[in-house]
Amino acid sequence: MRFVVTAGPTREYIEPVRFLSNPSTGKMGFAIAREAARRGHDVVLVAGPVSLKTPSGVRRVDVSSAREMLAAVEAALADAKPSDVLVASAAVADWRPAGCAKSKLKKRNMDGVLRLVRNPDILRTVKGVRKVGFAAETGDAIPEAARKCRAKGAEMIVANDVAEKGCGFGTDTNRVAFVRPDGSVERLPLMAKSAVARRIVRAVERGAKI
Ligand code: PMT
Repeated sequence: MRFVVTAGPTREYIEPVRFLSNPSTGKMGFAIAREAARRGHDVVLVAGPVSLKTPSGVRRVDVSSAREMLAAVEAALADAKPSDVLVASAAVADWRPAGCAKSKLKKRNMDGVLRLVRNPDILRTVKGVRKVGFAAETGDAIPEAARKCRAKGAEMIVANDVAEKGCGFGTDTNRVAFVRPDGSVERLPLMAKSAVARRIVRAVERGAKI
């Protein structure tokens, strides 16, 4: 099966040296790509700007912005079968600056207002393959994960509370719950991201049932 995995943050440039982004390190997505390749799948890892080594057996495409990430995902899925899967673990910026200045802005020329426009939603846009997404929330992630699962046409959303100690951005561990469109929820204990990745890849392999 082909796994196309998104990982890491995106950067949305305001001008050549300043951008909007978030603290994603790519650890969660790289662990999923590593595990899928280890289990013999054909893996394309579409990575935002991170400093992690490419897992063995994985084809990696580096991108910066959300729009670049969408284009790379669509290219990786161009000849995909309906049984192939997109696993969207990247922390994609929902908004980008309305324009990107050609040279560094001077403080004296800035008025403190930054106009933003919506970025494409990669998980929602992609059609014709199986989709597993994530939901990063602060506090109870389950209700929002259930909503995102239906809205984005995913067969499963991996919900994590990124405010919880040992979870979310930059940690080596995570506590997640698998949320499905029928409202079922499977809560996993705090575990290494490599172990979470194993559970996700096995859930994908088994179809929508674990
Ligand atoms: O990289 P690490 O440091 O290991 O951190 C891991 C993580 C916290 C980034 C990861 O566990 C996680 O929660 N990833 C999803 C982060 C996120 O942006 O979630 P969201 O709830 O805002 O988005 C919902 C889903 O839509 C996600 O699958 C996201 O990839 C996708 N999305 C969101 C916006 C957008 N424009 N395009 C998308 O595809």
